Parts: sequence; structure tokens; C-alpha cells
Amino acid sequence: MGEFPSAPEEAVEVAERECGGSVQLSEVTDRRGSTVWKATGPSGSAAIKSGTGNGVPVTAREAEALHLLDWPDHFLGGSVGKDLAWVVTRWFDAPSTWEMFRPVRETKDGRERALSAAVDLCHAITDLHGSGWVHSDLQPEHALHTDTGVRLLDVSWAWCEGFEPPDIFRGGMTHLLAPELAASIGVGIQPVTPSPAAEVHSLAATLWTCVTGRWPLDYPTAGIDPKALTPSQLRARVANRSIPLDSATPWPELQEPLREVLLAPRRQRPTAGELAETLRSVNA
Ligand SMILES: Nc1ncnc2c1ncn2[C@@H]1O[C@H](COP(=O)(O)OP(=O)(O)OP(=O)(O)O)[C@@H](O)[C@H]1O
Ligand SMILES: [Mg+2]
Repeated sequence: MGEFPSAPEEAVEVAERECGGSVQLSEVTDRRGSTVWKATGPSGSAAIKSGTGNGVPVTAREAEALHLLDWPDHFLGGSVGKDLAWVVTRWFDAPSTWEMFRPVRETKDGRERALSAAVDLCHAITDLHGSGWVHSDLQPEHALHTDTGVRLLDVSWAWCEGFEPPDIFRGGMTHLLAPELAASIGVGIQPVTPSPAAEVHSLAATLWTCVTGRWPLDYPTAGIDPKALTPSQLRARVANRSIPLDSATPWPELQEPLREVLLAPRRQRPTAGELAETLRSVNA
């Protein structure tokens, strides 16, 4: 393990303006050329994310996406250079979707709260799609459930018409990827074009993972170890739908509508809003 890198000075200055004075930095993550700190000052906290090496284009696109998305109470500043890109965002002290489902996974308690979080996430995605955007990298840890609504994190691959992703984009997390998107990546179509329909697949896959604690696809039954495959080999299996869905059903009433989404052909998938309505009628 290398030493945790230090935060870009200018980014720290932005955080200090937001947090009412000098800030204490604590390390959150450091992987694949992307480092995140929590900066805490006298009047609040901010997230600083910097990209170096391979992380430069990824964080640079996040800075552009945040600028275009224009979330004034979220984006505080950013900068893009040749060797370094960074963004500063407001820190949201709130549980992720993964955390909202923890009691469900561990004790089967807390179903009402988890279900309401699932519906809130569907509504947040409905609003995003309504504004012409797709997040493109939905994951259990990429939505935070605050008292004032769901906040989406890690928008490096967020897409709207005319804001095409760069060549390095491979559709987001493969375990949660829609088969048609995996197929288009497999045949080398560029730019990889996300869609609201593909995102509804990832939304259902995210919620499935939060319920079961496992990826939606049953790799052992298909006789594969996903870690032993290259991403493109795994995408090929996702694309041809040859891996069955996991058979664990800790919460069948919630998993059944998610299963329908995960097995549906693209054109028969509900919208995020329709999925929200279906989940609202699930018994907690
Ligand atoms: N604004 C924020 N408010 C609260 N927590 C945040 C914020 N930004 C980032 N985090 C925390 O830091 C983690 C990593 O952030 P992010 O996903 O943006 O970085 P990343 O480098 O892409 O990490 P990963 O590779 O894990 O996806 C998040 O899952 C979340 O726990
Ligand atoms: Mg992330």
C-alpha cells in the first residue's frame, strides 16, 4: 500500500470557504487513481475528490458533468488539468442505499424503511431521466438518502444527449449492467451510449443486491468465477443472458418485481417511475 496522497491545495481552499475556515481532512477511499477525502471545518463538511494518472480523465469528466448537471447545493467547485483533476462537493451525512438495507440483510428488520428508500431511489432516477440525464453508474453506494431527498454520487459517467462518454467508459459496474449495453460494448460500438432503459436494469440490480447482499447473477451455478474473467469476458456472458439469476429469496415480494425487470427485454422494461409505483405496493 502506498501512502495516501495529499489533497490538492486549491480544492482544500474551496472546501475551507464552504466549511467556515480551516478543515481537517480524513481519508475515505483511494483506488484506481481516484482519491476521496472528507474535509470538516467549523461550519460543515465537504467531499474532495482528486484524480491522478488513469483517474485524471475520470475525475475530469465528473467535474464537467457536475457543472452541466447544475446541482447548486451539491457542486462547490472543480478543476481540470493535464495531470490532475479535482472536484469539491457538499458532504452528505446520510446512509447509502446499501446501508438503508443493512437491517433487512442482517436481521430481516427495517423493511418499511428500506422499501421507502427503494421507492425514493426510483423517484430520484425518474427525476434524473425526466431532466434528460442518465447516471450510468448506479450502485448500492452511489445514492445517499438524506432528509431532503436522495443525492446521487460519482457522476463521472453521467450522460445526456450531446455529452458523450469517452472511449474508456465501459457501461458502469458489469455485475449490474443491462445485457443490451454489455452487447453493444462487446461489439465495440463507440461512444457507449447509456439509456434510461439500461439504467432501469441497473436500478433493479442495485436494489436486488441491497436486499440479498449478493450480485443478481448466480455465477457459481453458471460455473464461473467472475474474478477469474476479464471484464470483456464477463460482459459477453451478461450480454447473452447465459447466467441465471440468483435463487436466494430473502424478500420474495420485493424481489419478484425486480426479477421481472432483470429478465425483461429492453423494450418491456418499466420506466423508473413505473417501477416506483410497483414497489410502493409491495408489502413491507
Ligand atoms: N458528497 C459526498 N457525501 C458523502 N459521502 C461521499 C461524498 N462523496 C463521496 N462520498 C463517499 O466516498 C465514497 C467514494 O466516492 P466516489 O464513489 O465518488 O469515489 P470513487 O473513487 O468512484 O470510489 P469507488 O471506486 O468506490 O466508486 C462514496 O461511496 C461515499 O461513501
Ligand atoms: Mg464510486
